[in-house]
Amino acid sequence: MAKEVPFDGPKDAPYYLIGEAPGRQEVEKGKPFVGGAGNILRKLLSESGIGRVECRIANVMRIKPPKNNFNIFSQHEVEAGIEYLKRDIGECSPKVLVPLGNHALKAVYGVTGITNWRGSILWSDEFKCKVIPTVHPSFIQGGNWEYAPISRFDFSLMREEVDKPFDPPLYNLRTGMTFGETIQEIDRLKQSEYLAFDLETTRAQAGGNAIITAVGFSDELGYACSIPFMKGLQSAWTAREEFRILDAIKELLETPSIKVIAHNSQFDMGVLAYTYGICVANLWRDTMCVAHVLHPELPKALAFVRSLYTKQPYYDHWSSLGGDWFLRYNAMDAAMAFEIAMNMEPRLEALELTTVYDKLVGNLIPVLMGMQIRGMKVDDTKRDAARKFLEQELIDTQHELDALAGETVDALSPKMLGNLLYNKMGLPTQFSKTTGKPTTNEAALMKLSKKYPSKMFSCIIKIRGCRKTISTYLDASLVDGRMH
Ligand code: URA
Repeated sequence: MAKEVPFDGPKDAPYYLIGEAPGRQEVEKGKPFVGGAGNILRKLLSESGIGRVECRIANVMRIKPPKNNFNIFSQHEVEAGIEYLKRDIGECSPKVLVPLGNHALKAVYGVTGITNWRGSILWSDEFKCKVIPTVHPSFIQGGNWEYAPISRFDFSLMREEVDKPFDPPLYNLRTGMTFGETIQEIDRLKQSEYLAFDLETTRAQAGGNAIITAVGFSDELGYACSIPFMKGLQSAWTAREEFRILDAIKELLETPSIKVIAHNSQFDMGVLAYTYGICVANLWRDTMCVAHVLHPELPKALAFVRSLYTKQPYYDHWSSLGGDWFLRYNAMDAAMAFEIAMNMEPRLEALELTTVYDKLVGNLIPVLMGMQIRGMKVDDTKRDAARKFLEQELIDTQHELDALAGETVDALSPKMLGNLLYNKMGLPTQFSKTTGKPTTNEAALMKLSKKYPSKMFSCIIKIRGCRKTISTYLDASLVDGRMH
């Protein structure tokens, strides 16, 4: 019978932290989070000013998973673990529930995608408390070190939120406007001082000829609207109406006095210019580029930047809910770009980075957009030389790998590699954290190479890298001698 590791910490603690399952050290000491992941957790807590005594620390499962792979637990075992966990949460009535990683998030909030949901202030009707998820400390320890400051941010948020009532931000998202209302609204927006916009488009082809499916605008905090262009596969308007709306949008975005805001404007402005002949006159802030100036080491996607600069929880799943949700999602993206830009501004000024943004970054955007639209001219002679060089590298590295393995190895076949590493060589099987299945991905190879140093691992990684470079850049088809 596997030894159970009981939950730890006072039952009246305001914070209730939930991990996955104990590891070897936890079983030895009979306490959760006392090993490597526990060290990281302790640091995160102390850096954010949360005492361990203020936390109840639990796990979805109280026993160590076979081979340290949570996915090996049966559904029945996990259900029993969750039932026990939920009973304990019910008895504790915490103020903030903190799922650490996907298994805990799924157990108490019913969703997965921890890197999307982290940093969101959610509400649990079941437990009548806030839920603020963050990544599992072992995810950080496993090489995702950029998540250390992100998780620290999440813990600071928990501390800030612990005694506040749940008060989610409210946004007025206007959708479903008639043609007349749409024209009126665009006219009204012409008076804006600041205007955020966001496009939803069909997938871009080489050359950037994507089609707009919806456009969102926001000209004040808490408000945004969305104008549809497609309803399923049909146009949302008659041809004449669509022409009028596009004309009004052109006039709006080409008004030099309006300070325009967008996230990843290069893409949106490229589509507007290339497909619709609309040239944004006065791009004031690209929130993705400002994020790059303010914290270049952190992710730049809107969903991530949103978690740093607004209180709006994760909402990207709205886009696939169908109907009006897609337009609400589009409007919310515009509302977020507006709010993020406003909240970034004091920081940009305090760090004296406004000039850096204006002169070095903002000025580059139209140049990069031009490159994106026109593509990059390729020097055929240099491309041939690069291909020759990489193909020789591939031959040499393959020889080296085959000699080391004593057989011909296909570095691109996970099945063959898995068989070689885990069956023939008997190395410990590495499992994917997401699928729970055996993996030979780069992280697994790096982990193995640390414990079992062999040139084989770097040969496999090099072969994969060369092949990727060849297929992405050297085999890419050119349009008029340009790569897109
Ligand atoms: N990881 C967990 O998820 N729980 C522990 O208790 C220790 C490590």
